[in-house]
Amino acid sequence: MLMTPDRAAALAAIAQEVRSCRLCRLHEQAKQGVPGAGSATAEIMFIGEGPGFHEDQQGLPFVGRSGDYLERLLKMIGLHRDQVFIANVVKHRPPENRDPLPDEIAACRPYLDRQIEVIDPLVIATLGRYSMGRYFPNGKITQIHGKPRYDDNRAYYPLFHPAAVLRNPGLEKDMEADFRRLLEVLAEVRKQRGSPSSASKPEDEPPQPPTQLKLF
Ligand code: URA
Repeated sequence: MLMTPDRAAALAAIAQEVRSCRLCRLHEQAKQGVPGAGSATAEIMFIGEGPGFHEDQQGLPFVGRSGDYLERLLKMIGLHRDQVFIANVVKHRPPENRDPLPDEIAACRPYLDRQIEVIDPLVIATLGRYSMGRYFPNGKITQIHGKPRYDDNRAYYPLFHPAAVLRNPGLEKDMEADFRRLLEVLAEVRKQRGSPSSASKPEDEPPQPPTQLKLF
């Protein structure tokens, strides 16, 4: 397991590669790559679909309307986006926000795999069908949202995409309930791993200021 400065350096190296990536066509029309952002020692990693207009402009994931909503959901459970890691299945914006194509997802996959390996999150929360497809290939989001799968000392936790909830406010209640459950899922994996209740991974980080996470 990498120590914190090494993790941050490893993530920065991946980010640099993403910014100059030419492995698929998506870079051609995008302004810049959006590698992902957040804590190198995050216990929770969110994986979305791909950058939209605002993400492409700023080089950061989930900074548009979906991002505002994601931040509100995080706040509801006592978290800030800096305490988690947020990434996407594809790292350049698909033109006109079209769905990413299979070969684009495949080309980008090693970046995401490496980010997961470096961060080693306790919970991977998928946002929408493309990231869900990595872990629940035959899953139907309406049936499996909010139901974690525990595997290899990690939880895979499927969530609706925030944009889908914004389009369909009837999903809001379920989304909030799924977010509240996220902390229970995290507590379960901590127990499995024998990790103390702390927002950071203790082996390589100084003690963190108290957060609501410490309740778990
Ligand atoms: N939607 C996504 O899937 N990812 C983003 O970064 C922004 C919107």
